[in-house]
Amino acid sequence: MRTKINVNLLKDFLTEEDFNQIDPFIIHASKLLLERNGRGSEFTGWLHWPTQCLGNAKILSEIQDCKKDIDAFSPDYIVVVGIGGSYLGTKAVYDALKDHFPDKNKREILFAGHHLDPSYHQQLLAFLEDKNFAVVVISKSGTTTEPAIAFRLLRALLQKKHGSESRKCIVAITDEKIGALRSLCDKENLRSFVIDDDIGGRFSVFTPVGLVPLALAGFNIEEMLKGASDAETYLCSHQKLEDNPALKYAAIRNLLYQKGKPIELQSTFYPSLSTISEWWKQLFGESEGKEHKGIFPASLTFTSDLHSLGQFVQDGLRVFFETFITVKDLKSDIEIPLFEDDNDGLNYLAGKSLSFVNRKAESATQLAHSDGGVPVIEIEIPDITEYSISELLYFFEFSCAVSAYTLQVNPFDQPGVEAYKKNMFALLGKEGYEELKEKLEKRLDS
Ligand code: PA5
Repeated sequence: MRTKINVNLLKDFLTEEDFNQIDPFIIHASKLLLERNGRGSEFTGWLHWPTQCLGNAKILSEIQDCKKDIDAFSPDYIVVVGIGGSYLGTKAVYDALKDHFPDKNKREILFAGHHLDPSYHQQLLAFLEDKNFAVVVISKSGTTTEPAIAFRLLRALLQKKHGSESRKCIVAITDEKIGALRSLCDKENLRSFVIDDDIGGRFSVFTPVGLVPLALAGFNIEEMLKGASDAETYLCSHQKLEDNPALKYAAIRNLLYQKGKPIELQSTFYPSLSTISEWWKQLFGESEGKEHKGIFPASLTFTSDLHSLGQFVQDGLRVFFETFITVKDLKSDIEIPLFEDDNDGLNYLAGKSLSFVNRKAESATQLAHSDGGVPVIEIEIPDITEYSISELLYFFEFSCAVSAYTLQVNPFDQPGVEAYKKNMFALLGKEGYEELKEKLEKRLDS
């Protein structure tokens, strides 16, 4: 396993005794996952999916066929329509691997349906009006309102541009049998891929949910599956805390939670990895935050946030622990130039690389936060490639399930998401919600 966990700065916060105390609970939680007899075990299809998918020539060739057909009309943009687990994995991998500035050699992915802001969607449609684009609409349930509305808007634009040919620009990813999106696929003969019943949205990045849009944009999905599959093989076969970084991470999180640290900050000095933090927040937040328990996941991007929330982390309420995501080898670097006059006083750094400065800032921050009473963990990936990012994502999935089982909650459901949906349907006047509508409107008016 090339993803490493570094716990050197935890010595002041956790003892060997602490680890001995939690060890049996973590091993038990891991067994529940591996033997598929914990809560929600009907949703553990993701556990061995990367290896299964890598060995499944049919799925991979269907994705390649889809790519060929989409490539045939040379779209400049792929618009991914989805929310939560139906888009965050794709965005996490995409933002990590793409260039920071527009790259003419790559197909750009745009996102829609992940919120309801009218100005965003209005501007997206205006932007796409004279562009060639394909839509990948993703919804496991096929009934989620936000992506359903965005898809309707984009379909209207595609129909205006291409008439009956518009179906060729659409790929849908949804349940095999149920949901409005599946019915639409059947009625309009849309190309579609299936999300297996036993894989929940936030654990679906290595299924067609992530693989299809990333393949269409030109990323190497076989490398993604290899990274995830190697992580799967390693993590599923090492059942000792000292050998298994995912178990160790789950143990540390639960120990720190027990010691009064209910908030985990995921911090990185690499802005391209910040969307991985967004994906991680959904994964851990939706998996653990239930039954009035859970570690609240938050994220920071440094050094930008050192000039904002850094003050709070260093000196505010002591409720955090912090996990840094760091990278061993970067694909590009830049040297700081020498100025004879040294008017800005920076010549002591001349000839040094920006990565050297960034790393020193990272070490300085880790030490400062640790001294300020924030337990610090470091997770290091070897580089930013399809393989390594996928290894990291699988590492988090595995660790999240074990951590949630240790907290004694079901990692795979999300009952709390329904509350706002019911209210929204009622307030929007959806059939069947008349009584609730009346009650809610009274409360809003009073
Ligand atoms: O992890 C999950 O299951 C959720 O976040 C879902 O991905 C999200 O609610 C979107 O659901 P759907 O794919 O059914 O539209």
